[in-house]
Amino acid sequence: MADAFDPQHAPRLEDPARLEALPRATVVALLQLDGAETVVDYGAGTGVYTIAVAEAVPGGHVIAVEALPRLAEMLRGKITPELAERLEIVETAVNSVPAADGVADRVLMVDVLHHLYDQPGALAEVVRLLRPGGLFVVVDWGDRERPVGPPLDHVLGLAAVRDIIREMGLEEIEAHELGTELPYHLAVVATKP
Ligand SMILES: C[S@@+](CC[C@H](N)C(=O)[O-])C[C@H]1O[C@@H](n2cnc3c(N)ncnc32)[C@H](O)[C@@H]1O
Repeated sequence: MADAFDPQHAPRLEDPARLEALPRATVVALLQLDGAETVVDYGAGTGVYTIAVAEAVPGGHVIAVEALPRLAEMLRGKITPELAERLEIVETAVNSVPAADGVADRVLMVDVLHHLYDQPGALAEVVRLLRPGGLFVVVDWGDRERPVGPPLDHVLGLAAVRDIIREMGLEEIEAHELGTELPYHLAVVATKP
C-alpha cells in the first residue's frame, strides 16, 4: 500500500480502456457541480480528469496539485488558452498548497489515496483547503476480485477509505462499492461539517 506512483507508468493513466472503465463523466457527476466551484484535484497526474473538471466549471477555478514534475508537464500540455484562465497547477511533493484555508468547494482524489505520499500531511492539507459544507470525493480501486488494476493487497478498499474519511473529521454522504457506480472502483463522497 502507498506505493509511490512510477512516472514511467504515466501512459497507463491515458489508456482508453481505463477511461472507459472510469469515465470522466462519472467522476464529474460525483462532484455535484453547478459550474462556479473551486475544485482542488489532489494528485492530478497527467490531468485526464482535471481537464474534464475544468470544463465543468466555466465560472469556477481548478487547482491541480501534483508531486511529479513530469506528470505536471503532461497536464500543462493539455491546457487550452480558455482553460488556462481557470486552471492552475501547483507542483508540490510536500503537501503545501499556496491557497487560503477553506478555498475549495470540492477536493477530488482519483486513484490517489492508495499512492499518497505522506498520507497524514496530504489529508491534513485536504481538510485545510476544504470549506465547511464542501465535498471530498475519493475514487479508488476496489479490493475485490477484478480483471485489471493493482493487486488487492496494494489498495485500500471501501472499509479502509471510510475509516480514513471518518478520521479526517468528515461526514460520509455516499459510499459506492466496486461494481456499483463503477466496475472496478469504489467511490466515497464526504462533507466537512
Ligand atoms: C495513479 S496517479 C492518478 C492521477 C490522476 N488522478 C488520474 O486519475 O489520472 C496518482 C498521482 O498522485 C500523485 N500524488 C500522490 N501523492 C501525492 C501528494 N502527496 N501530493 C501530490 N501528488 C501526489 C502522484 O504523483 C500521481 O501522479
